[in-house]
Amino acid sequence: MGKNFIDIKDFSKEDIIEILNRAKELKHLNKPKNVNLGLLKDKNIYFLFFEPSTRTKMSFLKAASLLGATTFDFETSKSSLNKGESLIETLVNLESLGADAFIIRVKEVGFFDILKNKIKASLINAGEGTYRHPSQALLDLYTLWEEYDYDFEKLKNLKITIIGDIKNSRVARSLLKLFSLFEIKTFIYGPSTYLLENPEVYNTEILNSLEEALNISDVIILLRIQLERQNAKKYFPSLKTYNYFYGLSLEKIKNIKKNIKIMHPGPFNEGVEINSELAYSNYSLIFKQVNNGVFVRAAILEKLLKI
Ligand code: CP
Repeated sequence: MGKNFIDIKDFSKEDIIEILNRAKELKHLNKPKNVNLGLLKDKNIYFLFFEPSTRTKMSFLKAASLLGATTFDFETSKSSLNKGESLIETLVNLESLGADAFIIRVKEVGFFDILKNKIKASLINAGEGTYRHPSQALLDLYTLWEEYDYDFEKLKNLKITIIGDIKNSRVARSLLKLFSLFEIKTFIYGPSTYLLENPEVYNTEILNSLEEALNISDVIILLRIQLERQNAKKYFPSLKTYNYFYGLSLEKIKNIKKNIKIMHPGPFNEGVEINSELAYSNYSLIFKQVNNGVFVRAAILEKLLKI
């Protein structure tokens, strides 16, 4: 195992199982809510977020605080990056200030491949354009593992469908890789403009209708239409049409007999891919995913940084 978590493949299956087990331990510590375990008390972690974030940034911050690390929120818009300094130079300078790890979210794809050979501190990918979001995938796997009695064998019997903008989703790509590693059967569905041309590379299959997805799936993962990255009309006629044909509501799933589970990495567009009644219903694991993010991310930080 290296010092970075840039891609799912930076951890072996055994590493990931160890991280999930540690996340479970951390979640069930019988300690006060804001306990500082002091496990990373001599570590400096810098946060560099070039794109907005609520869940990832706050849960990594909370995870670092649980472990007792010192955190620094690097204000990207007020830094010397705006005076022409490159990201590599910035990180090298922050290393001189004592950085042990960088948690980075970037809009562009490919920075990490360049940075990893130049930077000694740990690099943690907190979302990379449309390409990778590995910590989200790990917390989603944890949430399913928890939901199915912490039994990886039960996960192998599941059918999971990801619906929405698969092509431009960093979450979907990381999830498909991770689920494949754990031998979990996946399907994808959405407007054909959003589907992968090479689903077999991700060990997944394309479904033909929402009804098919609802009938065969134990778990459905909905994705957000990333309006900030795209002109949605290039992909489907209107948000209303999207909601009608690809969105889920309590009304659409209430006739499904089995206990289908609905996940979403967040943030969700209410009334587009999901309606709020469903998001806040007992079918939804959405807020469990958010809560689990803290413990999974703490386990990732501990694994990378604890000596
Ligand atoms: N799921 C996710 O990455 O959410 P944020 O953009 O709020 O971090």
